[in-house]
Amino acid sequence: MKKVCVVGLGYIGLPTASMFATHGYLVHGVDINPLIVKTLREGNIHIEEPGLATVVKAAISSKNLTVDSKPSESDVFIIAVPTPYNHRAGAIPTADMSYVTGAMESILPLIKKGDLVILESTSPPGTTRDLIIPMIEKKNLKVGSDVGVAYCPERVIPGQALKELIGNDRVVGAVSPFWAEETKRLYKSFVAGEIFLTEPTVAEMIKLLENTYRDVNIALANEVSRICEKLHIDVWEVIRMANRHPRVNVHTPGPGVGGHCISVDPWFIVEKFPADAKLIRMAREINDGVPQVVVQKIVDTIGKGKKAKIALLGLAYKGNVDDIRESPALSIIDQLKKNHPSFELAIFDPHVTKNKDFPLLSVEDTFKEADMAVVLTAHDEFKNLDPTKVSSLMKGRIVLDTHNILKRDTWAQAGFHVACLGNGAPRTDVRGTHLRPVFASGSDAASAELSEKSDISPKPRTPSSPDSYPGFPAKADGS
Ligand SMILES: NC(=O)c1ccc[n+]([C@@H]2O[C@H](COP(=O)([O-])OP(=O)(O)OC[C@H]3O[C@@H](n4cnc5c(N)ncnc54)[C@H](O)[C@@H]3O)[C@@H](O)[C@H]2O)c1
Repeated sequence: MKKVCVVGLGYIGLPTASMFATHGYLVHGVDINPLIVKTLREGNIHIEEPGLATVVKAAISSKNLTVDSKPSESDVFIIAVPTPYNHRAGAIPTADMSYVTGAMESILPLIKKGDLVILESTSPPGTTRDLIIPMIEKKNLKVGSDVGVAYCPERVIPGQALKELIGNDRVVGAVSPFWAEETKRLYKSFVAGEIFLTEPTVAEMIKLLENTYRDVNIALANEVSRICEKLHIDVWEVIRMANRHPRVNVHTPGPGVGGHCISVDPWFIVEKFPADAKLIRMAREINDGVPQVVVQKIVDTIGKGKKAKIALLGLAYKGNVDDIRESPALSIIDQLKKNHPSFELAIFDPHVTKNKDFPLLSVEDTFKEADMAVVLTAHDEFKNLDPTKVSSLMKGRIVLDTHNILKRDTWAQAGFHVACLGNGAPRTDVRGTHLRPVFASGSDAASAELSEKSDISPKPRTPSSPDSYPGFPAKADGS
């Protein structure tokens, strides 16, 4: 049986290791985090991913998956370690390749003739050619003839990783047609999707383009959202109807872009081609600016310097996962804490139980006596909240739904004003209720000034009848 060593047992490495282990390979999984090794050895998993616990248990109990902090001799080495970016004030972020370099250094003493090294970590274009191959060749092994090297990016979505590991098409970029076929044979043990063969830099760029496309598309949606707000029209309706065009697929606005991929990967292109990657950079900047827009909406609603409790719902960067990496919620919390100390923040996320920087509360304690609630993550638990129960806990009746996931009419019936980003339409029907300042007293000059500046304060417009076409004013005769 062929031996596969998977280096890095996180969101990508662990599902991958367990798939190989349950499809005919002897897998040695490696992680430098001793807690992860201990957890896995005890038959538990350290990440939230539907179905994964069962597969890992099966793999470990069959003894086809062993877990350790050090790699061992193998026929294939797969590297699935993080590739975050270095934040540098005022400069373009650059890929932090130290984890990849560290992983490579740990396997270098074990690589022998005939072995295959596969990089799965998302990396800047040219990484295989300029980093991986030179490291191996320093060992006096000739890449191509002695040792195979391939870049095989992962495109699974957290929350559906196992399903997508099997079903998605894949790209393999290898140093020669022989090693491309070898890599394809390996993955074909569990991949039902098609596997396309190419060279490493093409595969690296494909991976980056996929996430860049999504980032640029989301930036477009966020920009249009701001414009629609100024037009006092509903961006959600504009996008929904534009997407009825057979060749249009505009993504949705939100509180920003997070996660380990979409908010990071485009920088890997910008870093290498700063003069050319103008649109890519601007999209990153637009999306990184949305948390500030959300903060401003909260401030406009509450009033600067006012004492108020704000219930923040969601820390994860996307719905139904526990991953908080690069989450816009973190940036929003950070800005609120730093710049608006009069606000008391109560934070709840049903998928995230611990956080080192601030306490996470129960759902009841979060809503209790809150003046305003803000939905920051599109978790199903939030979609299914009972507004009547929430109203028995909250003091205020204002919800800012940054993902537009709440059933607004149900919330309106419970007495709430639900606002979402990009909905400037001051409709009086229950679909389109709007944020109103919590402290709307005319005596408060600062608050009044802020509400005047705010794009979300109601403006006069003909109300639509409940059965008129959403977004269009009712006809003069009221029909
Ligand atoms: N998470 C995703 O949805 C996703 C999707 C596609 C691609 N990717 C890419 O896959 C790569 C891995 O991402 P992830 O989400 O699995 O990261 P992760 O942080 O969940 O897991 C990486 C693991 O590698 C371990 N590690 C770091 N250095 C190591 C070393 N030298 N030896 C052994 N273990 C080491 C860490 O302890 C960690 O457990 C990244 O490049 C990411 O961009 C991730």
